[in-house]
Amino acid sequence: MTPDDPETRLTAAAREAAKAAYAPYSKFAVGAALLGEDGTVHAGCNVENASYGLTLCAERNALTAAVAAGCRRFTALAVAAPRPVPPCGACCQVLAEFCPPDMPIFLVAPTGPATRLSLRDVFPQPFALS
Ligand code: THU
Repeated sequence: MTPDDPETRLTAAAREAAKAAYAPYSKFAVGAALLGEDGTVHAGCNVENASYGLTLCAERNALTAAVAAGCRRFTALAVAAPRPVPPCGACCQVLAEFCPPDMPIFLVAPTGPATRLSLRDVFPQPFALS
């Protein structure tokens, strides 16, 4: 790994984003970082709510921030959490809207090496209208 390879960049950005997580209920801070096809990095964290179901996951926050910034094509994702966790089902469906099935996803814990999977690994059959 080099300092500017996708895994290194996204791991750092996802861990940094997790520091901003608002997770007073679960105490499970998550950060996510997407690499845009143009080389830009877009990060997000989970934002919980007293009405639990309104909680927003880190991955969807990263994705929607990217789209709002004009980026719709992605080449890699990192998710940083207290232990390596894949995106939830709802996030997978939203990621599938914009990301290729073979896109690498790096599952990152606070320390140690990442687990590398693909979007297809974690979400083999996305819903599609056609
Ligand atoms: N969470 C995420 O942000 N991403 C995931 O992929 C799984 C779960 C958040 C939602 C909630 O704030 C906390 O983790 C516990 O479920």
